[in-house]
Amino acid sequence: MKELEKKNSKHSNSNSDSSSSSDEEEEKPKHDEKIQVLENHVRYYERDLRDPGIEGRKASRIYFLRSFNNWVKACLIKKYTFKIGRNVSVLDLCCGRGGDLPKYFQSRVKIYVGSDIAEELLQNAMDRLEKITQEKFSGNNTKCFLIQDDLSSPTSVLLKKIPDQVFFDIVACQFALHYHFETEDKIRKFLSNVVAKLNPGGFFFGTIIDADVLVKRLRSIKNKENFDKNPYNDKKFTFGNEYYSVQFAQKRFPINKPYGIRYGFYLEDSIDKKDKHGNVDYIWEYLIIFKLFVELAKEYELELVENFNFENFYENNVINESNEDRERTFNLNLFKKMIKLDHEKLSTSSQWDIIQLYKVFCFRKIPKGKTMKDYERYTAVHDKTQFNFDNKPELKIHKMV
Ligand SMILES: C[S@@+](CC[C@H](N)C(=O)[O-])C[C@H]1O[C@@H](n2cnc3c(N)ncnc32)[C@H](O)[C@@H]1O
Repeated sequence: MKELEKKNSKHSNSNSDSSSSSDEEEEKPKHDEKIQVLENHVRYYERDLRDPGIEGRKASRIYFLRSFNNWVKACLIKKYTFKIGRNVSVLDLCCGRGGDLPKYFQSRVKIYVGSDIAEELLQNAMDRLEKITQEKFSGNNTKCFLIQDDLSSPTSVLLKKIPDQVFFDIVACQFALHYHFETEDKIRKFLSNVVAKLNPGGFFFGTIIDADVLVKRLRSIKNKENFDKNPYNDKKFTFGNEYYSVQFAQKRFPINKPYGIRYGFYLEDSIDKKDKHGNVDYIWEYLIIFKLFVELAKEYELELVENFNFENFYENNVINESNEDRERTFNLNLFKKMIKLDHEKLSTSSQWDIIQLYKVFCFRKIPKGKTMKDYERYTAVHDKTQFNFDNKPELKIHKMV
């Protein structure tokens, strides 16, 4: 194990229910189909991980989708940091290039620890951190660490790298949990990392692919309407539109093997690519059967407190005018600030198809013998010694062999 200082690199529904399964119709994609699915997501890190910057992001054809995703994450972060109050400490797992850092800084968190497997992305996060601590949030005094780690590997070093005295009120994992569902061992390791330093009463939240929606689309590929609209209708078990594509190897899944159900996912402007003939280079992801996730999480003292599809979130916060509570007012105002597209354009956009693919979850750590009621008035419980370490943002890189 080796710790390095920051590098100066600029690169520096019955049949739709995903839990319903059977062996029938299992079939591998044909070799002659010009679709390449990468062996596993290790290749992911060999790709071009340069930060496109603000201008690059704005120029993206899926800028609306990205803004929408950011809006949902910003609402979640605001809600739970606000619930906890002052001195919040956060562990952001699979933080990537730290896109959520400004949101946490906006909420004035006291400690931010981000971890990801990809060194290049962490270098981007470090650049972002330095920029925001020097500019927009110079008065914040937030203590930050970035730690490189394979968070679901038996050799995960996360817990050794976090200062002993630091515990978290919030653990987040945004758009990344699917990687850890490759095997039961992996997701168990990941969940043990989630809970080890989460305070009792603390929150674990995130955003994931809604497997029920994904599987419903898979199983209705041949419906006339979907078939005509689907640019991949000549390819087996493949669907999508001009911005995204998903390819499964089968339509139904063995009931006794709920882990490692993989599908290739492609999203324009993401880390994955299309070649000049339009052939898609997929990244493997793994289905998260939500019921299973909830049962597993229980074993780690995590109780589900909310879960909803992005579309419901939008309806409750933007469309449903009868709801006048404070949270909805805040979310609506943030929506108006972050998203510049009227409702009609929005719901008919092909990017809406992608928005419907995602959902939010939130668990609470409730130790055995306690109930949710015991944590009704949870506030950050840190004593001052938690903050007794050097305030300079730091990037800790564990060199993996
Ligand atoms: C789609 S990105 C999401 C990044 C960020 N959370 C966000 O919302 O923008 C998925 C992230 O998961 C990270 N990741 C994938 N497998 C991982 C693993 N085994 N351990 C740690 N990070 C991992 C990738 O490097 C990538 O940064």
